[in-house]
Amino acid sequence: MEANQFGKQGWTPERIGDLRGKTFVITGTTSGTGYEAARILLSKGATVMMLNRNPKKSADTIAALKQTLGEKIDVSAIEMDLSDQASVKYAAQQVKASVPQIDALICNAAIAQVPSRVLTKDGWESQMGTNYFGNFTLQALLFPLIEKSKGRIVTVGSMGYDMGLKTIKFDDLNWEKDYTPNNAYSQSKLAQIMSAYELQDRLNASDHSEVKVYACHPGSSRTNLISTNGSFMMKVIFGLMKLSPLTQTAEKGAYPELMCATEPELDPAGFYGPTGRSNWVGAVGAHPIEPHAKDKAISKRLWELSEKVTGIKWNV
Ligand SMILES: NC(=O)c1ccc[n+]([C@@H]2O[C@H](COP(=O)([O-])OP(=O)(O)OC[C@H]3O[C@@H](n4cnc5c(N)ncnc54)[C@H](OP(=O)(O)O)[C@@H]3O)[C@@H](O)[C@H]2O)c1
Repeated sequence: MEANQFGKQGWTPERIGDLRGKTFVITGTTSGTGYEAARILLSKGATVMMLNRNPKKSADTIAALKQTLGEKIDVSAIEMDLSDQASVKYAAQQVKASVPQIDALICNAAIAQVPSRVLTKDGWESQMGTNYFGNFTLQALLFPLIEKSKGRIVTVGSMGYDMGLKTIKFDDLNWEKDYTPNNAYSQSKLAQIMSAYELQDRLNASDHSEVKVYACHPGSSRTNLISTNGSFMMKVIFGLMKLSPLTQTAEKGAYPELMCATEPELDPAGFYGPTGRSNWVGAVGAHPIEPHAKDKAISKRLWELSEKVTGIKWNV
């Protein structure tokens, strides 16, 4: 394996410079990696706009951040339910009315391991609808603001991309047959990662190549992910894992997304996360990604399908 480009300790937030004057939009900051990423960006002087589904939790998050960092931090929240296309569209309108440009959109929010098959308001399996189609629409609608600052889109994926079916189940995208929480979650994260590389290819082939798109993941981090939606059994398993050295803090889990949002000269073709055991923990940097995540025929087909079913045209 190649040496970590950031040295033995890997990437850490000490590398982030002064972020005053820069605007970051981040989804899912009420807990876990999203909270930690927002906190660290704010501590460097950034303007942070949070997109969360629960206004009460947003208010509590802002209060906690102010208590930690002081009243002067530049933080705000807009309500957005990523599982609901109408809510995503309305939130994007509000973002556009509030900030002139976006330096990085960090697509962090997700649900995982939903015990049984549930459909979103728009009729998609809940993990695919929230984690994948929600982000597809959000990214497209905010793209003009990102382009204004020659900014970045950061997709927070998962090593789950390499579990489950390892491809897109085009003939049964809603899991009418053979639903399992793990396969459905894994597919939604694979779809997110595939579309990040596909978007970068499309931007490179167009006049929009100054925007960069990055795919990363937090390894195995102690957050609320499983406790929010997982089955009783998953909660027990993850509860035990949390006690082992195979997991890390939520703060460390935030480093890959922070790196992708701020580090200059990062290669968008890379995949970023912890480089230690199983890529679950350890120094943060680039590490290999399996070829199925960059299967061009599948990602092109997924992109075209996504434009069709969301009704969102990217024009790139
Ligand atoms: N933790 C891990 O080991 C791990 C491993 C691989 C990948 N990941 C990825 O890391 C990212 C962050 O997850 P986390 O581990 O930090 O989990 P977390 O603590 O559960 O945080 C998830 C965030 O997403 C928000 N969210 C969920 N559904 C939403 C919706 N429909 N609309 C808007 N916001 C929504 C949650 O809000 P509420 O407070 O309202 O629920 C919360 O703020 C996710 O993309 C996840 O797939 C995590």
